[in-house]
Amino acid sequence: MVRHCTIRSVDQVARNTYLLSFEDADLCRVVRAGQFLEIKVTQCTDILWRRPFSIHDTHPQKNTVDILFHAVGPATRTLAQLTAHAELNILGPLGNYFRYEQNVREAIVVAGGLGIAPFMLMMRELQERGIAMRLFYGTGRSDQFCRLEEFEKYAALHLSTVDGSRGYQGVVTDMLSDYLDQSAHHHDSSLYVCGPTAMLRAVKEIANRFNMAAQVSVETIMACGFGACVGCAVPMTTPIPGQKYFMACKDGPVFDIREITIDD
Ligand SMILES: Cc1cc2nc3c(=O)[nH]c(=O)nc-3n(C[C@H](O)[C@H](O)[C@H](O)COP(=O)(O)OP(=O)(O)OC[C@H]3O[C@@H](n4cnc5c(N)ncnc54)[C@H](O)[C@@H]3O)c2cc1C
Ligand code: FES
Repeated sequence: MVRHCTIRSVDQVARNTYLLSFEDADLCRVVRAGQFLEIKVTQCTDILWRRPFSIHDTHPQKNTVDILFHAVGPATRTLAQLTAHAELNILGPLGNYFRYEQNVREAIVVAGGLGIAPFMLMMRELQERGIAMRLFYGTGRSDQFCRLEEFEKYAALHLSTVDGSRGYQGVVTDMLSDYLDQSAHHHDSSLYVCGPTAMLRAVKEIANRFNMAAQVSVETIMACGFGACVGCAVPMTTPIPGQKYFMACKDGPVFDIREITIDD
């Protein structure tokens, strides 16, 4: 469904990172954490395709939906310059969403960089279900962390930076592995993961080693967003007759980590 939405605000919340809030009374009530939107940035005439963004948060009391993004290219740099009352052309909600098993005692959320984007809404959903949360959140340097004061309302924070400027020095998956080595309670915990490919590959190894369930949101490059262009293929771990790939846009973007092969 195409929606014409009005921007409420665009604010810089970390180094090169922006929180964009727009109005849509229907969308903010129907979306689930993990789903995404395809946004046509009509103000940027250089680009043809819509761009995919995870839903970061919703505010039903204000009728607004938030996305969180890095300004990396023409579409996102244009979005960062928009102000209140500008119009957005949005397709969505698209894709599947994170699922919560009833026997999960604790959700261990693992985010690398902008992989944090889908998890604010997810933490609200987990809190409603009474599930305890830990957030393992890694960035390159301390000024890249986003919205920590909000996340710590929901979860115990475990922060890492590659340059050591805040928290554990190193990559988030090494911090996670060290934590699980020392924790006696991870058997009834589940992993929820989003981040760069190298991080997903490391989490897959950790999930195998500790025999933990893990759901991962993949950010494969996409074009159409609804299964028509075959541009977002993700290899299946166990191909079935006539099918070797999932389409991230319609079969995902959330997968059980055991179902997919994580390639470069
Ligand atoms: C399901 C999904 C959800 C996403 N959610 C978010 C989000 O919440 N916030 C956010 O900032 N970004 C998100 N992305 C990535 C976002 O779509 C791209 O950053 C955006 O399309 C860049 O558009 P652009 O025109 O500004 O830059 P482009 O010129 O299109 O790209 C700039 C650079 O980013 C790289 N790039 C583009 N798309 C991706 C991608 N999917 N993964 C890795 N690198 C990419 C390009 O190769 C290029 O090097 C998501 C992608 C997917 C598939
Ligand atoms: S983006 Fe076109 S098929 Fe998935």
